[in-house]
Amino acid sequence: MLSLPPKLAAKLATPLQIGSVAVKSRVLQSPLSGVTDMVFRRLVRRYATESMMYTEMVSASELNHLRQLPKVMEVAPDEHPIGIQLFDCRPDFMGEAAQKAVAEGADTIDINMGCPVNKITRKGGGSSLLRQPEVAADIVRTVANAVGVPVTVKTRIGWNDEEINILDFAQQMEEAGAKMLVIHGRTRAQGYKGKARWEWIRRVKEILTIPVIANGDIFSVEAAIACLQETDADGVMCSRGTLGYPFLAGEIDHFFKTGSLLPPPTIAERLQCAKDHLLGLWEYKGKRGIYQSRKHLAWYTKGFPGAGELRDRLSRIENVEEGCLLLEEAIAANAER
Ligand SMILES: Cc1cc2nc3c(=O)[nH]c(=O)nc-3n(C[C@H](O)[C@H](O)[C@H](O)COP(=O)(O)O)c2cc1C
Repeated sequence: MLSLPPKLAAKLATPLQIGSVAVKSRVLQSPLSGVTDMVFRRLVRRYATESMMYTEMVSASELNHLRQLPKVMEVAPDEHPIGIQLFDCRPDFMGEAAQKAVAEGADTIDINMGCPVNKITRKGGGSSLLRQPEVAADIVRTVANAVGVPVTVKTRIGWNDEEINILDFAQQMEEAGAKMLVIHGRTRAQGYKGKARWEWIRRVKEILTIPVIANGDIFSVEAAIACLQETDADGVMCSRGTLGYPFLAGEIDHFFKTGSLLPPPTIAERLQCAKDHLLGLWEYKGKRGIYQSRKHLAWYTKGFPGAGELRDRLSRIENVEEGCLLLEEAIAANAER
C-alpha cells in the first residue's frame, strides 16, 4: 500500500510559496514546447485544479515578429496559477518580454535555462546559460526589476558530466533574485536519455532557501513520492508523463492531498479526452490545430487492443470530422474497458 511518511504529508499540506504567490498544490505541470498550449492546459486543469501551469517557452526577442507568438503567450482569465516561460540571453529583451507577459496575465515569469536544442543554445539561450552564470544572473536581476511578479528559473544539473555546476549556479540564481528553481536532473548532453539524477536535486535543496522543484522521470504517483523522499524537494513537476495523459498532475495531487489513489481513467475516458483535445485544437487553431493534433492523438492511443491501427489512422487525419468519427468508434468499442 502506498503511503506518505508523516513529515512529507505535513509539508504537502502547506502551500508552495513562490515569492509572493501561494500555490495550493505541490505538483506542477511543466512547460512543453508544442504541447502546453491553452487547449492542453485546459485538459490538465480539469484534474489538477490548483496546480501551477506553464505556457510553452516563448522567445523574448521574436515576440514582436512572429505572427503565432502572441498566441503562445495567451492566457485565459480562468487559468491561474500560471507562469509564462521566456527564453533568450539578452537581459533587456527579457525584461521587456516579461512586462508583456505580466500584462497577459502571468502570475510568475519563468526563465528557460534548460532547453538543449542547438538552435537555442547556439544563440546563448536555454541550457547554454549554465555555462554563462553571470549572464544568467543578469537576466534574473533585470527581469525581477522589470516586473512585480516572482521570477523563477528552470534548468538542468549542468552542461555535461564534466561540467555539473548546478550547486554554484543555483546559489547564483537565488542571489540574483530567483524565487524558485525547477531542476531537471539531467545534463544538457543527456538530452532526455538515461535516468534523471535526483541526488543532485537533493544537494541543491540542502543549500538553497527558495523552493526547489524536482523534475525528471515523474511518470506516476509512486515516482513522485520516491522523488520527494530522495530529494526533500518542495514539489514535483510532471513532463513527458503527461503526453497523451493530462490526468497525471491531478492524480499525483489527489494522492498528495488525500493519501488515496484515484482510479485510473478507463480506455474510453482516455479516448474521450483525446476527442476533447482534438475539438479544442480545431476551435483554437483551425487547420493548423488538426495537424498538431496528430501527435497528441498518437500519444493517447497506446496500451489497448487495436491501438496500433487506430494510431496509424489518426496520424493521417485531414479534418476534425474524420478524427472525431475514428475516436467515437473506438470509444464505443472500448465502452466496457
Ligand atoms: C516535447 C517536449 C517539449 C519540451 N519543451 C520545454 C519547454 O518549452 N520549456 C522547458 O523548460 N522545458 C521543456 N521540456 C523539458 C521538460 O519540461 C522536462 O524538463 C523534461 O522533459 C524532463 O522531465 P521528464 O523526464 O519527466 O520528461 C520539453 C520536453 C519535451 C519532451
